[in-house]
Amino acid sequence: MSGASIAGVTVASCAGTDKIPAEGVPRSPYGEDSTAEEVTEGIDLTGKLAVVTGCTSGIGFETMRVLAMRGAWVVGTSRSLEKAQAACDRVQGTTTPLQLELSDPDSIIACANAIRGINQPPDMLILLAILAAAASRSSSMASRNTSRSITWGTSSSSIA
Ligand SMILES: NC(=O)c1ccc[n+]([C@@H]2O[C@H](COP(=O)([O-])OP(=O)(O)OC[C@H]3O[C@@H](n4cnc5c(N)ncnc54)[C@H](OP(=O)(O)O)[C@@H]3O)[C@@H](O)[C@H]2O)c1
Repeated sequence: MSGASIAGVTVASCAGTDKIPAEGVPRSPYGEDSTAEEVTEGIDLTGKLAVVTGCTSGIGFETMRVLAMRGAWVVGTSRSLEKAQAACDRVQGTTTPLQLELSDPDSIIACANAIRGINQPPDMLILLAILAAAASRSSSMASRNTSRSITWGTSSSSIA
C-alpha cells in the first residue's frame, strides 16, 4: 500500500488504496456520489456574490447553476463572452457573464477590473478555469520540449 504516515495515522494516496478514517476526526456526510444540490440543500445564498471561472461546461457550469439556484449572484467566465452568456442563459437565477482568457494578461486585468466594478466583494471564488488552463499550457509547453512550468494560481472555493 502506498501512502504517508502522519502521527500514527495512515493517509492513503489516491492510487486506488482505501482511505482509513482517523479516530475522532469529524467525517463529512458527503462523498464522491454527492451532488451539488445535495451539498447545498437548505443553504440560502441570497445576497452572496460568487465568481466561477470556467462556467461553460463540466464542474464549472454545474457549480454556477446550483449556486444561482440557491440565490447567489454568480459571475461566470469563459474565453468567449458569447459562450459565457449562453451558459448564463441556461441557468435560473442572477448571473453575469464575463470574458476571461487566462493566457492573456490584458484579459485577466479586464476581468478583474469588471469584478472590482461590482459594488460588492466576492464571497466565493471558484477558480475552475485555472487548472484547465494550467493543464493545457503544461502540455503545450511539454510538447515544445521545455522544462519550464507555469502555475497560474491555485483552485479555491469557499462559502462565506
Ligand atoms: N469534472 C470533475 O469531476 C473534476 C473533479 C475534480 C477536479 N476537476 C478539475 O476542475 C477543472 C475543470 O474541470 P471540468 O471537467 O469542468 O473541465 P471542462 O469541462 O473542460 O471546463 C473547463 C472550463 O475552463 C474554461 N477554460 C479552459 N481554458 C481556459 C483558458 N485558457 N482561459 C479561461 N478559461 C478557460 C473553459 O471555458 P471556455 O472553453 O468556454 O473558455 C471551461 O468552461 C479541471 O482542471 C479539472 O481537473 C474536475
